[in-house]
Amino acid sequence: MTTQTASRAQQAMALEDKYGAHNYHPLPVVLEKGEGVYVWDVNGKRYFDFLSAYSAVNQGHCHPRIIAALTEQASKLTLTSRAFYNNLLGDYEAFITSFFGYDKVLPMNTGVEGGETAMKLARRWGYDKKGIPANEAKMVFVEGNFWGRTLAAISSSQDPSSTGGFGPFVPGYIIVPYNDLTALEHAFKSEPNIAGFMFEPIQGEAGVVVPDEGYLKGVRALCTKYNVLMIADEVQTGLARTGRMLACDHEEVKPDILILGKALSGGVLPVSCALANDDVMLNIRPGEHGSTYGGNPLACAVAKEALQVLKDERLAENADVLGRIFRSKMEELKKEVPLVLTVRGKGLLNAVVIDDSEDGHAAWDICMAMADNGLLAKPTHGNIIRFAPPLVINEEQLLECVEIIGRSIRQYAANK
Ligand SMILES: Cc1ncc(COP(=O)(O)O)c(C=O)c1O
Repeated sequence: MTTQTASRAQQAMALEDKYGAHNYHPLPVVLEKGEGVYVWDVNGKRYFDFLSAYSAVNQGHCHPRIIAALTEQASKLTLTSRAFYNNLLGDYEAFITSFFGYDKVLPMNTGVEGGETAMKLARRWGYDKKGIPANEAKMVFVEGNFWGRTLAAISSSQDPSSTGGFGPFVPGYIIVPYNDLTALEHAFKSEPNIAGFMFEPIQGEAGVVVPDEGYLKGVRALCTKYNVLMIADEVQTGLARTGRMLACDHEEVKPDILILGKALSGGVLPVSCALANDDVMLNIRPGEHGSTYGGNPLACAVAKEALQVLKDERLAENADVLGRIFRSKMEELKKEVPLVLTVRGKGLLNAVVIDDSEDGHAAWDICMAMADNGLLAKPTHGNIIRFAPPLVINEEQLLECVEIIGRSIRQYAANK
């Protein structure tokens, strides 16, 4: 590394530190280019990206078809607002509703806006259709949930680093343990004014927590029995990441409201949505909810292509097959290195839990070693490393990554 290139990286980090809010703690790599499963830093060093921008880049960095859709539309029309019709929105809405089997879609931008939209839809349905008395609607969430950083989202969080110093919080929330149908039924039984149950079919930020088989079917049955909307937050688990188009597809259940984001644009721009049938969606009328950028023509062009790419390239199937290989290789590593406590996940959304009882930062140090060895991943919740590469990865590349991960963990174990 020359002094000049080293200083480019230092300079970029120093600028962020001085002029940006300190609300993130990134690994010290400065990226400037991405293609498929790879990213390059300002020194030209190549890495496998095993975070995929928290599962937003499922289709791979700068997918040529998605970038072509972006650039073609960018030179024609980018934003009209919803004050007027645009020529792509209806076509995109027809496409995505038929893709996922819902009557209607409400387009937004970020994942958390998708969640807010779902919650507003549920509350409104609760008042208009279920007959909940005004301002009495309750929402049920699970322990360990994460759906973003707005006040409504953090109000359901139990993570002190999300909530500390940000109160007061949105009222009307009930929190039950995850993967516990008895507790869920108890909540539904004891409170008649519940409008919706919002949850992730696999908890991403909590550390890739996979519920027992039958949980999703059980949730569906309870929601139906107690007339509560089942709201699946598939912002991270959706769009082929877990080896099916949706994580709910693993148990063939259909939520009443489906929230999508992240990979809906292939990592190109913020695009999210809530999907639902008319009984839920049509309770919101003009002027009652919206967003300046939601449904903009650029997002419509990009999202349609991003979805089509998932299907054409059979990325769910690839995630399913390669995910099984990845977990079996990590299980072998676990047998060999006691530092590896647990391996879990579905498709290409996986996590390895590291024993950090000695120093509290083993997972971080291993991520630094992996970065040195050409692979980028980030710890979540201290000692859990999430492994979520772009779904365009092939078996040869995956095996190379398995080797890098194994080598880095062994190196760390040998040197500590
Ligand atoms: C399950 C889930 N929901 C919602 C969000 C929020 O998405 P965004 O950061 O785009 O607002 C995230 C982000 O990580 C997520 O993992």
